[in-house]
Amino acid sequence: MASVAAFDQADRDLVARFEAAGQGHVFRFLPQLAAAEVSDLLADARQVDLAKLAQILASAPATGGESAEAGQIEPPGDELQRMEATEDHRRLRLAAHDRGLHEIEAGRVAVVVAAGGQGTRLGSTAPKGMWPVGPLTGKPLLAWHAEKVRYWAKRVGRPIPFVVLVSDATAQATADFVRWHNHFGLDPTWIKLVKQGSLPAVDDAGRIVLTSASRIALAPNGHGGVYAALRESRVIDLLADHGVRTLAYCQVDNPLIRTLDPLFVGFHVRNESEFSSKSVMKRGPAEKVGVFGRVGGRPAIVEYSELTVEQESAIDAEGALVFGQGNIAAHCIDVAFARRMADEGLPYHRARKKVPCADATGRTVEPDRPNATKFECFVFDALPRAARTVVVEARRSDEFSPIKNATGDDTPDTARRDLIEMFRGWMRRAGVTPPDGAIEISPFDAPDEHAYRALRGLARA
Ligand code: UD1
Repeated sequence: MASVAAFDQADRDLVARFEAAGQGHVFRFLPQLAAAEVSDLLADARQVDLAKLAQILASAPATGGESAEAGQIEPPGDELQRMEATEDHRRLRLAAHDRGLHEIEAGRVAVVVAAGGQGTRLGSTAPKGMWPVGPLTGKPLLAWHAEKVRYWAKRVGRPIPFVVLVSDATAQATADFVRWHNHFGLDPTWIKLVKQGSLPAVDDAGRIVLTSASRIALAPNGHGGVYAALRESRVIDLLADHGVRTLAYCQVDNPLIRTLDPLFVGFHVRNESEFSSKSVMKRGPAEKVGVFGRVGGRPAIVEYSELTVEQESAIDAEGALVFGQGNIAAHCIDVAFARRMADEGLPYHRARKKVPCADATGRTVEPDRPNATKFECFVFDALPRAARTVVVEARRSDEFSPIKNATGDDTPDTARRDLIEMFRGWMRRAGVTPPDGAIEISPFDAPDEHAYRALRGLARA
């Protein structure tokens, strides 16, 4: 009680704002809390943007379907650049590559890696970026991406901004990790950690959930929070002031991705695109990837959880999946467009989750079925708002093997297998017989096959 008595006016105002918003129950255990617990609760409460929550609840009710922007989905249109084995297409790709390289050389490209998630599905509470991935060295995911950036920085002879999107769950651990790894050999001035926002989980009545008597169930607001995070940290101003026009965005969980890819940047810039994407052919109807299509006539990515089984397995006249181009979460985003998305905001998606919650006495209970709704916005929900876009098809074996699950598909083992297989392919095509067993080519020496061939003094494939 002494701690409650020590409340200052700002604390009392905070509680009053929650009461006025119909969320006063958040403080119901206050009289029984110790001083440290009161501080925790107040700190959590200060993070809640009540106006934003009310706005989300009004536009996306706490119960019901998951879709943020419902609509009829149609197949993608001419924004999709399929991989073709024609000479024309090869020339187009070479021209795109040269243009992209020019953009990187001119300092107009920054890298953004989304690393706000934890390895929950892997059974880890550490940031996913710390997961070991080098087949021989166990080099962690974030270092793996950073080394690819370091390669390009060395190649073009100038620092390349490396922005890491973190959340409350990963911010401190990631900052420590970056320091321990000596900034991965990158120029420390150009590594920027930007923190996305958090939102509280709510129950079926739209009431904020407490995970214990003194903690609010806060969760990251989805990687769509990157736009606001870039604006609020002013990192977007810094980048723009230094002439950056394109953000090369990817997710930390995919070690195969070309973290910075001149070809992709080139397609993006040549098409004067505002938001570009890479796709791969889906493994099959049930693969858990978003798909490219059109919604309301606009290019869009529709998340796997929002597709019906019929849509997932629809087949065209050639027997191919109608929604067969999967989202590998690599995007090129125009800086001015990113700023606009920060100002306009994105729609929120709902996800029903099992969220530990305080019972009537304040004790934490683990629910046995989904009991709460979390809200997230997705980086790719900006796509329909882009005046121009391009989707570049990539080869799965070169660019996509994410680490998502402890067992089954997309595990640490499958990513390791695919990395090794990719390196073997590079070696064989360069006329080198790969040794048996695990191999690893340092991303700093060769982040992709072109670089590997150059390292061996060979011409492009
Ligand atoms: C995601 C994409 C899906 C795509 C697939 C490719 C979404 C909603 N869907 O699915 O379309 O086909 O990847 O692998 O993203 N992250 C943050 N902040 C957050 C949430 C996530 O930085 O608030 C980061 C995570 O660290 C992770 C990545 O975003 O690296 C993906 O998140 P995850 O929840 O694993 O998405 P998926 O369901 O796998």
